[in-house]
Amino acid sequence: MSACLGPKERIYTVLTNTLPAISLSATVGKDPGVLVVGLAETSDGDLLVGLPDEVAKSFTKALGADVATVAKQLGAVTKTGKTVLLPGAGGLKLVVVGVGPIDVTPEQVRRAAGAAVRLVAGLPSDAPKSVTISLETSEPQVIKGAAEGALLGAYSYRPVSPSVPGIGEIVLVSAKPRTESKQAVELAAVTAGAVVLARDWVNAPANDLYPESFAEAAKAVARNAKIGVEVWDDKALEREGFGGLMAVGGGSHRLPRLVKVSYAPRGAKFHLALVGKGITFDTGGVNLKPADGMYTMKSDMAGAASVLAAVSAIAQLGLKIRVTAWAAMAENMPSGAAYRPSDVLTIYGGKTVENGNSDAEGRLVMADALVKACEEHPNLVVDVATLTGACIVALGERVAGLMARDDQTADLVLDAAEAAGEQFWQLPIPEDARPKLESKVADLRSTGDRPGGALTAAAFLSEFVPAEIPWAHLDIAGPSFNNGAAYDYTPADATGMSVRTLVALAHVLAN
Ligand code: BES
Ligand code: MN
Ligand code: ZN
Repeated sequence: MSACLGPKERIYTVLTNTLPAISLSATVGKDPGVLVVGLAETSDGDLLVGLPDEVAKSFTKALGADVATVAKQLGAVTKTGKTVLLPGAGGLKLVVVGVGPIDVTPEQVRRAAGAAVRLVAGLPSDAPKSVTISLETSEPQVIKGAAEGALLGAYSYRPVSPSVPGIGEIVLVSAKPRTESKQAVELAAVTAGAVVLARDWVNAPANDLYPESFAEAAKAVARNAKIGVEVWDDKALEREGFGGLMAVGGGSHRLPRLVKVSYAPRGAKFHLALVGKGITFDTGGVNLKPADGMYTMKSDMAGAASVLAAVSAIAQLGLKIRVTAWAAMAENMPSGAAYRPSDVLTIYGGKTVENGNSDAEGRLVMADALVKACEEHPNLVVDVATLTGACIVALGERVAGLMARDDQTADLVLDAAEAAGEQFWQLPIPEDARPKLESKVADLRSTGDRPGGALTAAAFLSEFVPAEIPWAHLDIAGPSFNNGAAYDYTPADATGMSVRTLVALAHVLAN
């Protein structure tokens, strides 16, 4: 088969993106690079937050007017994430960014810091840039928000613009930094590192990142984090009966893989299993997608990227919780070896499924991985998948769907998402979903009809998680990839959405 390989395969190089250095300081340094200050809305008007007196004075001297007036003239408003760059004064550049109402939430600050740093990252320069963000708070959650926003806003996918120097250094100025503030910055840096890793994987083209190379990259990350990793290659998958992965992945020369990454610290009481959809490219298979819908399908492994990146962050943070991440990797291609609509496959563990549509491939590889993950009787299973276009129709491109069989589990994950600043909305798994999956020739069919497609998909997955194991399903088809322009801390293309929620969830569940 290898004789038929197309364009030369490259083995994907991991960890191309390094984060800028980030630190906390009590004062604005002598050489702050670009200084970022916020514009907040108070009950008696707008207020520039974090503008040090000396800076204000030198600005007024150089510009002949005070910073606030100049900023207003240039269009500065308090709208969260709206930025204005002030003309340099005395060699100092200033960015004024709207933060919204003065009682800031961490997410407001995350967005504002992201927008400001993204603006700075785009400024012409031939050397890496420094940014100083002046915060008038010592609140650890706000500092964490600022740190995450700044680090995420500094991101660019390197292979695309290797010559543009990025952000080299970020300094957060906090009036009275507490010890918790320093920990907050460290937590933010590890979390942002994981988000950036997921973004890099998702942005990687599918001729670089295919099941075999993705599994190699996962191995490298696991080794780096000193955690366990196991890979099932196509032969092992075939032998052990992973019929979903083998059917979906069989149409490609790049054969499927299942990756398990285990972090099991001594004394952990809770076992969290994470399962991610890793379709490295989704053509739709023989139910071929139209060209427009296919173009961004290198991102169909965003769920796998999230769970792998999250477990590495959780391990780096040393959280007292056992976490096992499962990544189901396959490329969905049409070919003489591709699986057909009406084919009957046997999922790992023995349930049979009639394939309703080869473009509903995600649920098949997820079924295999969910059954395998549940063999270990975890206390909670969370799966993450770019599963349905229907979820985008329901919730738009910036809100992910969350489905669970009980509200307690749903609320647990929703609360973690809220704390992390990611938007999820619960959708039901209604009673009428399961009957849509009746099949005359197998235990169930993979697809129902068009209405409520995200819910039917969840009902399908539910069949592969034993009723006694709490389970939540995250459909990130919309927010995992930004088809529009960058905004706040969210870049164009891969976003890394759901990584922060998974890390926050592990935090809550750790003992
Ligand atoms: N990967 C897609 C879902 C998707 C669509 C993700 C758009 C991101 C953006 C998934 O495999 C798919 O094709 N789902 C089908 C299911 C249908 C055939 C039942 C869909 O949503 O149309
Ligand atoms: Mn598909
Ligand atoms: Zn897909």
